[in-house]
Amino acid sequence: MRGIILAGGSGTRLHPLTIAVSKQLLPVYNKPMVYYPLSTLILAGARQIMIITSPRDVSSFRDLLGDGSDLGIELLYKIQDEPRGIAEGLLLSADFADGEPTALILGDNIFYGAGVGETLETYSKKEGATILVQSVTDPERYGVIELRSDGSVKSLAEKPPAPKSNLAITGLYFLDGTAAERAKLLKPSDRGELEIVDVLNSYLHDGLLEARVLPRGTAWLDTGTFDSMSMASEFVRVVEQRQGFKISAPEEIAFRLGLIDSEQLIKLAEKYSKSDYGVYLRSLIG
Ligand code: DAU
Repeated sequence: MRGIILAGGSGTRLHPLTIAVSKQLLPVYNKPMVYYPLSTLILAGARQIMIITSPRDVSSFRDLLGDGSDLGIELLYKIQDEPRGIAEGLLLSADFADGEPTALILGDNIFYGAGVGETLETYSKKEGATILVQSVTDPERYGVIELRSDGSVKSLAEKPPAPKSNLAITGLYFLDGTAAERAKLLKPSDRGELEIVDVLNSYLHDGLLEARVLPRGTAWLDTGTFDSMSMASEFVRVVEQRQGFKISAPEEIAFRLGLIDSEQLIKLAEKYSKSDYGVYLRSLIG
């Protein structure tokens, strides 16, 4: 499966942090933010991944992640000139997707929980779209979904002032090969963006939208505000220190999935030998 990470945007809600640096390169505890969605996509089965980012930041992402060969995957980069909406990412990646199913993830979304990897792998869609939703205490900050009692989708809305449920739409979308075609038909919203919720509404209209409620044991964190970023860092720090495992270290995931071998992992560990991160990678080999 092909994956797309949307790592553009202006990050204005995090000014002045993001004046000179992309939001998705800021730290979430001990890793750049983009490591988390990148890890999620690799776990979901993506082996070719396109990173969409702003003209200013593309070289920094390349410096950080290269062509993906270190991780046994392929990484491609695409520039979004202006943040014209999440659904524009589908237009920019249309050639890359080439009419095949894709998983699109927002660069500021973090997923963590038992079985996330195996579960996600089952969502790749030949036909239709699958979204993951989770109960939150502040649904008005998100896309919100209304489900019928049989679990089918009744309605969707982007940041509604009076949400019809507590179920937020997370930033991970499994889409079939028609996503770009659907995005082409969209008109910009009142805020001037091509809205992902309109793509999802197009699937809903055709009876092709499925929602899976993430279990309570799965943590979904976004990092769109100072508080949510700090909360995400604290979450990662607490779990990692308690368990001794790192959350969303792409090198570890690539190694465990057999995408790279122990020699390649040792090379990566040596690159970071002065940090705890490198020491951790080295310890995986025993
Ligand atoms: O986090 C989940 C939420 O993400 C969903 O519930 C909403 O339905 C969805 O619209 C989105 O809401 P946000 O308000 O968080 O979207 P934001 O504009 O902050 O963009 C999310 C990510 O996408 C962020 O990492 C920046 C990137 N982005 C955004 C836009 C608008 C781009 O790369 N290009 C863009 O044009």
